[in-house]
Amino acid sequence: MGTIKKIAINTGGGDAPGLNAVIRAAALSAINRGWEVYGIHRAYAGLLGEDEIVPLTRDTVRGITHLGGTILGTTTHGNPFAWPMKQPDGTTRRVDRSDELVTAFREHGFDALIAIGGDGSLRLAYDLSKKGIPLVGVPKTIDNDIEGTQLTFGFLTAVDVATDAIDRLHSTAQAHERVMIVEVMGRDAGWIALFSGVAGTADVILIPEIPYRIEKVCEKIVERERMRRHFTIVVVAEGACPVDGAPVYEDPERRRLGGICEILAKQISERTGKECRAIALRHLQRGGSPNAYDRLIALRFGAAAVECIAKGEFGCMVALDPPDVRTIPLAEAVSRQKRVPVDGDVVATARALGMSFGD
Ligand code: F6P
Repeated sequence: MGTIKKIAINTGGGDAPGLNAVIRAAALSAINRGWEVYGIHRAYAGLLGEDEIVPLTRDTVRGITHLGGTILGTTTHGNPFAWPMKQPDGTTRRVDRSDELVTAFREHGFDALIAIGGDGSLRLAYDLSKKGIPLVGVPKTIDNDIEGTQLTFGFLTAVDVATDAIDRLHSTAQAHERVMIVEVMGRDAGWIALFSGVAGTADVILIPEIPYRIEKVCEKIVERERMRRHFTIVVVAEGACPVDGAPVYEDPERRRLGGICEILAKQISERTGKECRAIALRHLQRGGSPNAYDRLIALRFGAAAVECIAKGEFGCMVALDPPDVRTIPLAEAVSRQKRVPVDGDVVATARALGMSFGD
């Protein structure tokens, strides 16, 4: 305690609305304690000499709370334990540069690192903390799948975007008597699909946690037809999969999910004769300004991370545990993925409202 003079902040993995709010809160909280603050560009690239390390001052973090993206840049290809190095023959070799990174961190005279990231980046943060980097993690992802925190910032903004899209699709679906299939992100967790589906009053919600049967999905559509509801809204999580089936990958090698809405559209149209349209919202859910609640969570996380450093508490992650922000060990945060509880009250609410999960 009292020995901190200089800290660094970085953002890793896919972006999420609220990253800049965390950066601002952490930077100002640290500056107000008399510490110097630096931003490492593009996750760990700045520390490995492949990008910049820049001072974060009151001026550089002014007016950024509401901005999407990250002023520090980010990457999903920046694992220092398996760093991609281009070879003269054009191929890429993975090299462990973690020791080099720890040395660079010390040579820069940093006393602590605030690592803002999702599950992949928090796992890297955990491994780097085991190598001696005094580090505090901040959970970020629109997927809301980080263990130990009620919410990650970015999630509620993504839910807003998806809900707005579902609202808009209702009128065109009704006008044309079509089935609209809306694919949302979330990887192997169905949080975005469930929350936006319920809020947007979808008729069918398909999530990875509840494998579906296409017959059941079609039954719901036919039942609606019988009730003279000639349109249906299906919200599907990108990671949803049928019973005895597998998720749909847009890029199987990189395990990038995507494309299930098109497959469902074809299957539903063949089985019910209904005209179907598929729409994947993709990165629209990650772009733009964080909503007010995400800003608030992000600002609270940034300030709490600095508080942790001041207390000498490292190897931990800040977490939302309403009404408080507390810390949990990084080991616990990365121990498993937080998925939708199938017996939870939001699923029960959806079922009570007559929504189908295709099961
Ligand atoms: O983890 C956030 C996320 O947006 C997932 O919901 C999605 O599967 C993935 O990232 C997309 O990654 P990329 O930005 O590499 O396309």
